[in-house]
Amino acid sequence: MTAPTRVWPESLLVSGASGSIGAALVEEALSAGTRVVATTSSETGRARLDTLGAITGGDLTVVDVDLSRPQELDPLLADLRSRPDPPHAFVALSSGASGGPLEEKSYEELAGLLHTKVWSAGLIASALGERLALSGWGRIVLVTGITGREPIDGYAVGAAANAAMRTLTKSLSRRWAEAGVTVNAVCPGPVESDRLRALAPVLDQAGEKEVSLGRTHPLGRLVTAAEVVAVVRFLLGPSSSGVNGAEVVVDGGFGRAV
Ligand SMILES: NC(=O)c1ccc[n+]([C@@H]2O[C@H](COP(=O)([O-])OP(=O)(O)OC[C@H]3O[C@@H](n4cnc5c(N)ncnc54)[C@H](OP(=O)(O)O)[C@@H]3O)[C@@H](O)[C@H]2O)c1
Repeated sequence: MTAPTRVWPESLLVSGASGSIGAALVEEALSAGTRVVATTSSETGRARLDTLGAITGGDLTVVDVDLSRPQELDPLLADLRSRPDPPHAFVALSSGASGGPLEEKSYEELAGLLHTKVWSAGLIASALGERLALSGWGRIVLVTGITGREPIDGYAVGAAANAAMRTLTKSLSRRWAEAGVTVNAVCPGPVESDRLRALAPVLDQAGEKEVSLGRTHPLGRLVTAAEVVAVVRFLLGPSSSGVNGAEVVVDGGFGRAV
């Protein structure tokens, strides 16, 4: 395949597509004429995605899969390995409930979160990456989170999952780079989103109230989903060919690590 020149890839697989960031990404990609395959595990997620398909009139396929159950991923992996026209790019956005004290989570919840966020991303990227390498071009973007770099109180579980996503990105980035397939991470800080609103009580209780308010952030506000999508779009496009194994932080300067 010759390297594309258009900003959005021709086709795109998005896991966890029904969340605030996913919906913004899917809407923009569909509006740009990209064929999108989007995963969800819930009826509300499917309804939200179906609405986006209808609003944009775009080419959208919704796949129902509970990524916390490894065996449910197998049909999707088999399809990616065998279909004649695999998506040209993949963005991993799925994540489960990750706030609250570690000791209050069951083993099933802890394992489920890792499957939903980390292992599904790695397994989908591996299945697709092999195919993309044969075609000579591809883009993979794993979405991490600022707590994977700078943990905050009340978010040990999510922070550990985010840190795992960072190392996974680095490991995968070396696999198919020579064949034109890049793997990068996008690391949002606190985003104006349903997820952050749902997490606010847990963060308040842990003394991290300001994280979810945005007033004390350098921008004086939270970063938006559209601002995260803008960076994902760059990494999916032809101009990012020299960027591989990187983590691009989109936190408006919230983090302090250098
Ligand atoms: N929002 C923020 O402030 C923020 C900050 C830093 C990093 N991030 C990261 O950015 C990514 C997207 O964030 P977001 O705000 O859009 O999150 P979100 O609204 O919580 O979306 C997460 C997605 O994961 C899906 N999901 C949940 N459980 C699942 C399961 N068992 N199987 C399959 N899919 C499942 C959800 O869809 P269904 O329920 O429909 O399946 C949803 O589409 C996440 O990885 C998050 O950790 C977000």
